[in-house]
Amino acid sequence: MTVIETRSRRSIRLRSPNLEDGIAIHQLIASCPPLDLNSVYAYLIQAMHHAPTCVVAEGENGLAGYLSAYLHPRQPRTLFIWQLAVSSAWRGDGLALAMLRHLVGRGQNLRWLETTITPSNTASLAVFRALARQLEIGIEPVSELSGSLFPESGHPPETLYRLGPLTPAA
Ligand SMILES: CC(C)(COP(=O)(O)OP(=O)(O)OC[C@H]1O[C@@H](n2cnc3c(N)ncnc32)[C@H](O)[C@@H]1OP(=O)(O)O)[C@@H](O)C(=O)NCCC(=O)NCCS
Repeated sequence: MTVIETRSRRSIRLRSPNLEDGIAIHQLIASCPPLDLNSVYAYLIQAMHHAPTCVVAEGENGLAGYLSAYLHPRQPRTLFIWQLAVSSAWRGDGLALAMLRHLVGRGQNLRWLETTITPSNTASLAVFRALARQLEIGIEPVSELSGSLFPESGHPPETLYRLGPLTPAA
């Protein structure tokens, strides 16, 4: 567990999730559109199998943020970032960036970060651009999950971004 201070000097704990966090993570994601809400079961699996690559941010009044990610099965030095959420009470205080930097700093010998971003999610793109700036690495779109892959008509595409390369000191 790591205790950090946000930009406004609020103190918050960053740690890996455990099974007891599953319901609170589900509630947090439900309150963070446009994120897809996965089942509680899916968040339990993340806590059970992917805890080393996931982060919960805990404030005095409960869960303030959640970051899920996993190591690419065929590219073990690539971390795929799945969901990133900060509760409305904690937004604009550097918490998303702090969770990402905490995860990258866990010493997993990472070279690349990947994530998908819907073109309309300017907040998400701003966060990952800020991360690339802070780490002094590149960020570029590399491919796309077409909107036609999703069942809803008019579903926007998901652009796959790649950030890196990270150096061991990142
Ligand atoms: C996107 C989200 C995670 C940002 O969390 P946050 O803790 O407020 O972000 P931070 O304070 O760490 O901001 C990091 C950077 O992104 C920028 N940013 C954050 N939200 C922004 C917004 N709505 N519009 C423009 N820029 C934004 C900040 O200005 C900051 O840049 P800076 O370092 O140059 O000042 C949060 O708004 C959220 O949970 N949104 C709903 C879910 C979502 O869209 N998740 C992302 C997709 S995975």
